[in-house]
Order: sequence, then structure tokens, then C-alpha cells
Amino acid sequence: MNLVVAQNVSHSFDSLLYEDVNLSIESASSVAILGVSGSGKSTFINNLSTLLPPLSGKISLNGIDDIYSKNDAEILEIRRKEIGIIFQSHYLFRGFSALENLQVASILTNKKIDMDLLESFGIASVLKQQISSLSGGQQQRLSIARVLTKKPKIIFADEPTGNLDRKTSLKVMNVVFEYIKKYNASMIIATHDNEIANMCDRKFYLKDCKITQM
Ligand SMILES: Nc1ncnc2c1ncn2[C@@H]1O[C@H](COP(=O)(O)OP(=O)(O)OP(=O)(O)O)[C@@H](O)[C@H]1O
Ligand SMILES: [Mg+2]
Repeated sequence: MNLVVAQNVSHSFDSLLYEDVNLSIESASSVAILGVSGSGKSTFINNLSTLLPPLSGKISLNGIDDIYSKNDAEILEIRRKEIGIIFQSHYLFRGFSALENLQVASILTNKKIDMDLLESFGIASVLKQQISSLSGGQQQRLSIARVLTKKPKIIFADEPTGNLDRKTSLKVMNVVFEYIKKYNASMIIATHDNEIANMCDRKFYLKDCKITQM
């Protein structure tokens, strides 16, 4: 089954970023989007992930046809239940502990916090700490753990490992790739990191307003 279907998607700000993009992603698979800075990778991820309606075209997620034809409450529900979004800058709740941040995701989606996951991310020992006292890399791992806690069918990731050293990046991404296979989920990731792109099932390059498979 295709979890993400983009049909004839176009977007521009001052100038055209991409036109008539068609892309489908099956369950248990992952796709990397590469391209130079400013080519539109983040914009495309935002289009796909309920955050930014494209100028034209249609996006369907997990069998929900044309997500932007839904009302705001329905779109929020899709964002909360079906998908997980990992940003480079992590939107953790400051003034709360690491554990409290995970509990929010757990309560919202009625899913258990996975202690094994936290162990494998190397953050089980910092759960009581306030967000402000965590290192940048710990915050990034926590925000990825928080997304996985929701058990989303679809993961959107925009430069998810920007704050991590190579060894930690690969370790964390391996856990995410295992998650995708185990839960028949799918992931679309924008990255400049070739090694991580090579871990994906398919790679696409955004250039000259087109997204071409490599
Ligand atoms: N809200 C906005 N308003 C106007 N222009 C925007 C907006 N968001 C992005 N842009 C422009 O669209 C282009 C694509 O931006 P985008 O962030 O999608 O690129 P990117 O491929 O993710 O780059 P990077 O690799 O640096 O993250 C850039 O020229 C950017 O300045
Ligand atoms: Mg970007």
C-alpha cells in the first residue's frame, strides 16, 4: 500500500521550486530527497506533511485522499495521529523534563513510552533533566524518540541528524530504519548526508524544478 502519494505537486515562492512532481511511497520503505541548499527540499517536506498546502496538486496520506481538502480540525488530527515530523531544530517543550516531553506524545496518542528505544538512543539516563540542561545532540535524539513514541505510519524528517556526530547519527538512523520495517511505516527524509541517503530504499534529486530518481 502507498502511504504517501503526491500527484502533480507544484510550489513556488518568488520563483518556481518544482512543478508537477509525482511520487508515491509504499509501506516499509524510505525515500531520501537530496538537492543543493535552497532547491526546495524543506518546502516539499512541508507540502507532504500537512504543514504547507502546495500551490497546486494533490497529496494523500495513509489512504486519506487529498489531505488539504479537509478542514483544519481534520488536518490537525492527521498530523497528530498518522504522521511524525522530525525537524533539524527540535520543538521540545522548554521548562519541562525530557520524560514529560515524551509523556505528552504518549498521552496524545495513547501509546506507551518505549524504554528500549530510549536505551538504544542513549538518553534513558537523562529523562529527569530539564530540556535546557540537555546537550544539542541529546535534544535531537529526544525529539526523534518523541516522534517514534507516537508510532506514526509516516515519518517526515528534515535534516534529522544535523546536530549529531557521525557515529551517533548512524546509530539513531538505524533505529529509525528498523522502526519503519517493523511497523510497515514509511519515511521521507531531506538530507545533505549521502551515507544516510544511501540507507534509504530510493534516492531522489531536486534540481531544475524536477525531482528525479538517482
Ligand atoms: N516562507 C517562505 N517565503 C518565501 N520564500 C521561502 C519561504 N520558505 C522558503 N523560501 C525560499 O524557497 C527556497 C527553497 O527553500 P527550502 O527551505 O525549501 O530549501 P532547502 O532545499 O530545504 O534548503 P536547505 O538545504 O538549505 O535546507 C529558498 O530560496 C527559500 O528562501
Ligand atoms: Mg531545508
